[in-house]
Amino acid sequence: MSYETILTEVKGEGARGRVGLITLNRPKALNAINRQLTEDVLAAAAAFDADPAIGAIVITGSEKAFAAGADIKEMQPQSYTDMYLADWFGAWEQFSRTRKPVIAAVSGFALGGGCELAMMADFIIAGDNAKFGQPEIKLGVIPGMGGSQRLTKLVGRAKAMELVLTGRFIDAVEAERIGLVARIVPAAELLEDAIKTALTIASYSLPVVLLAKEVVNRADELTLQEGVRFERRVFHSLFSLEDQKEGMTAFIEKRTPDFHDR
Ligand code: CAA
Repeated sequence: MSYETILTEVKGEGARGRVGLITLNRPKALNAINRQLTEDVLAAAAAFDADPAIGAIVITGSEKAFAAGADIKEMQPQSYTDMYLADWFGAWEQFSRTRKPVIAAVSGFALGGGCELAMMADFIIAGDNAKFGQPEIKLGVIPGMGGSQRLTKLVGRAKAMELVLTGRFIDAVEAERIGLVARIVPAAELLEDAIKTALTIASYSLPVVLLAKEVVNRADELTLQEGVRFERRVFHSLFSLEDQKEGMTAFIEKRTPDFHDR
C-alpha cells in the first residue's frame, strides 16, 4: 500500500512479533498535519493494528521535524461552520484508539498538532534535538488535537498551563524532566532505538501486551479502587492463556519463551 504523505515499512522477521513503521513525509511543510496526512496515518495505523504479524507500531518524522503542527495554510481560510461541520481533527480519535502499542520517535520540532500526535502515542522517545510546544495561542487559537487534556494529564496543571498560555518551546531535557517523554537518546540513534524497543514489545504475547496497554490506560478513567480491581480481574484472566504457561515454564526451565499469541 502506498500513501501520499507518509512512508510505511514493516521491521522484523517471521510470522509474528513484527513492527509497523509510519514515517511522516511532507518535508517541505515540516510534516504539517493536513487532511491527506490525517487520512494516510489513520489508514496505515488501522492496517497495522489489524495485521496479526504486527505487535507494535512506531510513528516518526524527519530529523528536523516530527511535525510542526496542523497545517496552518489549510486552516487559515476556514470558518467556524466549516470546522464544526467537518469535525476538524475529530478523526484522530480513531488513532488514539489503536489497540497495539504505539511509540512516537520524535526528532526536531513536535509543535501544536505535532506534539498532540506524539502524545496520542503510548510513550515518546525523544532525540536529544527534540523541541516540544503548544504554540497555538500565537496564532489566535488553542490546541485542537487533545493537547490541553493529554498534556495536563501527562505533566500536570502548572506546566501544561504555562506551555499552552505562553506557547514556549521546551527542549528534550525539560520534556523528560516533566514527564512528557519516556527517554532521550542521541538523535542519530533515535529510530534504531525506537524500533528496537518496539520489537522487544512485539516479541511478547500480543494479547498480554494489548491488555497491559488497556489496563494502564484505564488509570485515566477509574478510581484507584476500581482500577486495582480491574487490573486484578485482567491478571486472573491471563491464566487462561497458553502464553502464561509458556512464559512461566520458560522461566523455570531457564530458556527463552516461545509465545504464540494464544
Ligand atoms: N503549517 C503549514 N506549514 C508549515 C507549518 C505548519 N504548521 N510549519 C511550517 N510550515 C512550512 C512553512 O510555512 C515553510 O513553508 P514555505 O517554505 O512555503 O514558507 C516550511 O514549512 C518551512 O518552515 P520555516 O521556513 O518556518 O522553517 P524554520 O526552520 O524557519 O522554522 C518552525 C521552523 C519554528 C517549526 C516554524 O516553521 C513554525 O513556527 N511553524 C509553525 C508552528 C506552529 O505554530 N504550530 C502549531 C500549528 S496550529 C495547530 O497545530 C493546531 C492544533 O492544535 C492541532
